[in-house]
Amino acid sequence: MKDITTDRRSNLIKKNVGDLMREMFSSRISEVISEIIRMADEIGCKAYLVGGFVRDLLMKKPNRDVDIVIEGDGIKFAELFARRVDGRVRTHKRFKTSAVIFSDGFRVDVATAREEYYAHPAALPVVEISSIERDLYRRDFSINAMAICLNGKETSMLYDFFGGQSDLKDHVIRVLHKRSFIDDPTRVFRAVRFEHRLGFRICEPTLLLLESATREKLFEKLSAERLFNEAVLILEEQKPEEALLRMNELGLLKFIHPELCFRVESNQLMNHCKETLVWFELNFPGREVRRWVVMMMALFDSLANDCRDEMLQKFKSAKKILSCPLVNLAKVEAATAKLHKPVVSPSFVGKAFENLTNEALVFMAAKQTGEGIKALVTSYLTNIKDIRPFINGEDILKMGVSPSPIISNILEQVMEAQLDGKLKSRHEALKLADKLSR
Ligand code: CTP
Repeated sequence: MKDITTDRRSNLIKKNVGDLMREMFSSRISEVISEIIRMADEIGCKAYLVGGFVRDLLMKKPNRDVDIVIEGDGIKFAELFARRVDGRVRTHKRFKTSAVIFSDGFRVDVATAREEYYAHPAALPVVEISSIERDLYRRDFSINAMAICLNGKETSMLYDFFGGQSDLKDHVIRVLHKRSFIDDPTRVFRAVRFEHRLGFRICEPTLLLLESATREKLFEKLSAERLFNEAVLILEEQKPEEALLRMNELGLLKFIHPELCFRVESNQLMNHCKETLVWFELNFPGREVRRWVVMMMALFDSLANDCRDEMLQKFKSAKKILSCPLVNLAKVEAATAKLHKPVVSPSFVGKAFENLTNEALVFMAAKQTGEGIKALVTSYLTNIKDIRPFINGEDILKMGVSPSPIISNILEQVMEAQLDGKLKSRHEALKLADKLSR
């Protein structure tokens, strides 16, 4: 392989960002950060803000995911900090990371500055490297590899060792060294995700490394769960279709299934899904829809059934993620096939939509052009789905029918009549049930 030299020589640029922090932080974030500083001073360690939180601050974008690195014992810090703020702490001893969760759900991620780095860190002199620099060097992209010192002599100082600020200014996604995608293949998907979320461009040397990682099929070593977690993150973004078009262009979708592609039609379908999600959320505010499920349905829509099965077989450990969109797709296809009649009664709609989740309803409405299905979904959700039956099994038993499948059969017929407006009261429902039981 051609040697692609991308390694960024460490060249520390410092900048005081105190004013920016005061300008951008909400009072909640400021309070939390003050508490972090007090705690770090008390136990005598250094605390840094890192990662996406710093990136977004420099871009003046709000971000509530406070990510800190401790030079010292991060786990001890997190435990004491959780006690101080009356929160819970969840620790991953192996990775020396913790999450402190406040009683209102606010979360602070705490890591211990890692000393290790991957093989051949040619860009870094081995002597006199601070823990924070090493920690940052093992991160994904220059724009995510900056830190803000929170306490001590350099309070509010931004540490930019790898050109993160200049890449932010130039709208560039760049890895820090050539092993980055080998160390962590999920970064290939992250690169595309950030590219489209931020409107940036993966720079040429990084693109060459990404393509080389793709050729070497590094993802085959990646666990299915991690692969699909990344896919979910992409599908949760505002413009997943742009990232997917790019993934298609880079040949990344074939690692999910060789037949999977994302072209004009899938793009159109995904756009319809986005519009339909807005329509659904506006019209049915209390009903929850998971955006990524709808988007994953759109992604897999063009895949034939046998390919979907192969995918499930291949990625068994991602079954939890994959089965929901795939089951939904099968149900939508079955329901759509039933709805080909020109006029359909409410009871018919009730039956056809019976086991459809909100995600399936949204997808179904998005897939059909015209207002037809939207009207049926509206009628189903407002007049059919939650309707309470006039009678129940107890009523039928009291009529002397012995426990058997006949009871549910009668209840079903009575419910059909109720949905179609043929019964106005419990009294009428009982009369019909009585007639049916004879
Ligand atoms: N990181 C990394 N390699 C990965 C995942 C994460 O180096 N495969 C580092 C990056 O420095 C990243 C930080 O861990 O900024 C936090 O990760 P995460 O929360 O996943 O990303 P964010 O950058 O915060 O992005 P988002 O805004 O999507 O939360």
